[in-house]
Amino acid sequence: MSVHQSSNIKRITTHTLQEMKSRGEKISMLTAYDFSMAAIVDGAGIDIILVGDSASNVMAGHETTLPITMDQMIYHASSVVRGVKRAFVVVDIPFGSYQGNSSEALRSAIRIMKESGAHAVKVEGGSEIKESITRILSAGVPVMGHLGLTPQSIYKFGTYTVRAKEEEEANKLLEDAKILEETGCFALVLEKIPAKLAKKVAETVSIPVIGIGAGGDVDGQVLVVHDMLGITQEFKPRFLRQYADLQNIMTKAVQDYISDVKSKDFPNESESY
Ligand code: KIV
Repeated sequence: MSVHQSSNIKRITTHTLQEMKSRGEKISMLTAYDFSMAAIVDGAGIDIILVGDSASNVMAGHETTLPITMDQMIYHASSVVRGVKRAFVVVDIPFGSYQGNSSEALRSAIRIMKESGAHAVKVEGGSEIKESITRILSAGVPVMGHLGLTPQSIYKFGTYTVRAKEEEEANKLLEDAKILEETGCFALVLEKIPAKLAKKVAETVSIPVIGIGAGGDVDGQVLVVHDMLGITQEFKPRFLRQYADLQNIMTKAVQDYISDVKSKDFPNESESY
């Protein structure tokens, strides 16, 4: 079989990620939702790009991740894929497109892979979505799990606070992590849970465990790119490290432009034909 590769950059695969866990190399992961941001994040050398359903909050201004649709996720994902040369691209299956119906889960995963060109899908939940995960995997689509604070269930939790602080929920989370591994997930995200529990999960399962608000003793870290770049400023949870202050930089640039237009400084002669 001949395989067409448009560049000679070595792409990250599920195999690469498993090897990174085996040798103790931490995995870096960020979200992206559009071509330009994906090209920057990929060019900087990120390992995994997540086209998260957090696009619902960050890109569309919704309060939760629930309203985003399949068509919208595919639009974001296909834009990201066109900007990426090296990173492994994972796409969230949106709320209502995989829970409770494994045939629909399979259809959703296949649509995402076919229409976006992404490399894997991500789903939220444990034992209750095992059948859906099995069906998706049967089509050869890699699946990333997501446990802990799962934003698609926000109305069940009622709050965005730390999950699995109590023994019962912690035990269920550990069992769910084992189920996800046994079912065949290639990796899993742990969101906003105690660091000690996250460490135990990462030591128990053989697949890579990526944390967000889950401490440092996991196999990698993920953040929402708009939060870590300081484009969004309202959301400042304890786990977020802000690496830039782009909101202020961008605001200043726009104000300078407005001022230059009003004062007739822009455009000058060299900027005209
Ligand atoms: O949608 C998203 O951005 C996510 C990350 C927070 C893991 O699921």
